Amino acid sequence: MCGIVGYVGEKNCIPILINGLKRLEYRGYDSAGIGFFSLGSTHVIKSKGKVSLLEEKLNSHVYESHLGIGHTRWATHGVPNEVNAHPHFNSNNNLLIIHNGIIENYQTLKTSLKNMGYSFISETDSEVIAHLIDSFLKKGNELLKSVRLALSEVEGTYGLAVIYEKEPDKIIAARKGSPLVLGIGEGENFIASDVSAILAHTNQVVYMEDGEIVEVFKDKFITRTIHDEEIQKEVHEISLSLDEIDKGGYSHFMLKEIIEQPDSVTNSMRGRLLLDDGNAKLGGLDNVLERLSNCKRIIISACGTSWHAGLVGEYMFEQYAHIPTEVEYASEFRYRSPIIYPDDAIFFISQSGETADTLAAMKEAKTKGALALGICNVVGSSIARESMSGVYTHAGPEIGVASTKAFTSQLVVLALITLLLARKRGMKLDEGKCIAEHLSKIPEQITKILELNSQIEFIASEFQDAKNFLYLGRGFNFPVALEGALKLKEISYIHAEGYPAAEMKHGPIALIDENMPAVFIAPKDSTYDKIISNIQEVKARKGRIIAIASESDSEIDHLVDYTIKIPDTTSMLMPLLTVIPLQLLAYHIAVKKGLNVDQPRNLAKSVTVE
Ligand code: AGP
Ligand code: GLU
Repeated sequence: MCGIVGYVGEKNCIPILINGLKRLEYRGYDSAGIGFFSLGSTHVIKSKGKVSLLEEKLNSHVYESHLGIGHTRWATHGVPNEVNAHPHFNSNNNLLIIHNGIIENYQTLKTSLKNMGYSFISETDSEVIAHLIDSFLKKGNELLKSVRLALSEVEGTYGLAVIYEKEPDKIIAARKGSPLVLGIGEGENFIASDVSAILAHTNQVVYMEDGEIVEVFKDKFITRTIHDEEIQKEVHEISLSLDEIDKGGYSHFMLKEIIEQPDSVTNSMRGRLLLDDGNAKLGGLDNVLERLSNCKRIIISACGTSWHAGLVGEYMFEQYAHIPTEVEYASEFRYRSPIIYPDDAIFFISQSGETADTLAAMKEAKTKGALALGICNVVGSSIARESMSGVYTHAGPEIGVASTKAFTSQLVVLALITLLLARKRGMKLDEGKCIAEHLSKIPEQITKILELNSQIEFIASEFQDAKNFLYLGRGFNFPVALEGALKLKEISYIHAEGYPAAEMKHGPIALIDENMPAVFIAPKDSTYDKIISNIQEVKARKGRIIAIASESDSEIDHLVDYTIKIPDTTSMLMPLLTVIPLQLLAYHIAVKKGLNVDQPRNLAKSVTVE
């Protein structure tokens, strides 16, 4: 999920690796490390935290090396610390690997490697790759073959680089689901997870595809498929300048994170969604599954965007798992002496895992004997550590203060939990399969919505001067209305309110006139006819209307000023699609107003004060 860089050539690789890692810092990470050959042995220097700390460690040594690899880690398995940072050694300390991605079957591999006598130093999934390769080297295979054989046993995603003391002239790198490029120089070659890491040295690159593996020497590279067929790759010349590539070429982290959502939601369901069984597998809940599925009530507690995800979760849990569910602001939950029973299960949702209100609410719930579960993005964060069990969202690092991809990943995890609980509590196989099937299509449907970016940018230009906004939705899309409004107010400083659409007539309708834009989330679902009536009510009072509507709906175009058409899915998953245009709308309005999108005034990414 984070960064990889590697060098082989005549120069000293240490500063090249460090500078490469610095160029990858925009991706967000929690630890960094480099590994290289020097004076006949293999060295590893790692550090928790920033690359600058790694650099400080290196300053006390003088190393000269001509082949090395570097990594920034964003923890998915095991807390961010020095031991878990990459590179990882094999047991003979003569082979190193760095890995971006997730090894889904690492537990199975780890068990069989342990049975073979291997011992593990880190908590990561990645370390299994080092030992697995080692097990094939021990059988007399060369490095390339050993890596290929190891990867044929691995399920999941990887951008991988390997170096081996006994074949010290090359880096082997492979890709499946995590990006990897080669940089071609004169008497030197590079690998990287994205071009920004190597652009200071070359603009000649080769893009590796999934299922490909490469041997990189200082004066040549040989590419093959994982099945050992040699392939010729095209060398591309890139015209990007160094200035353009911060934030991976996007103008803001928020935009980058919005655009990343097809990948981030895929990562959230990877290895967890069981299409044929119409079910989900969530290792983090295994040890509490009986207690959870028999609980009398679920409470979801969170703040801000995570609280909105919780509201969607409430609708999911009640409708499909038939468990009474309540959603509480963590700050209120903590201070209002809530009645908590031992057979309550409480989910605490937090992107950062550090939100003080949520953490305090979790501690309170634990003292009252409830089953306290975490849904967090940041591995090893305080809430993840305090929780009795839980599920990581695996959205990857989110840097923009306005949460986007963390929200959709939270929704995916809530949908997976819903499937798991509902199937355990009697949901039929066919219904489970239907939801699972719809969930698997969400990434490509998000991609389709992202193609509407310029249309949404145009709509943003029409509304950038608005002083107020109303967001209205019903059912599963009511929380999306709240989230759309929150996005807009956070980054554009426009006053915006979200309401259940039917509540409008109980008050907010008084605000409607030609200066009050209203965003209706109105896909074709069971509440469609009702929401059309609400649209008519706004139209009758000259309100300007933007509608998020189903592709198949041509009638709504006549009723509203602007429509943004999205694909259909089952209503429980609709928020995963309807929120995307709202994120883009808020983003473009803020950009047009010339505001600091990634660091809006008065806000912090992680609110560690109560
Ligand atoms: C979202 O855009 C916000 N910046 C904010 O509401 C955030 O969701 C809230 O502070 C909770 O953060 P957490 O998910 O890290 O706990
Ligand atoms: N899954 C690996 C780990 O947790 C790699 C994470 C990454 O891509 O940075 O160590």
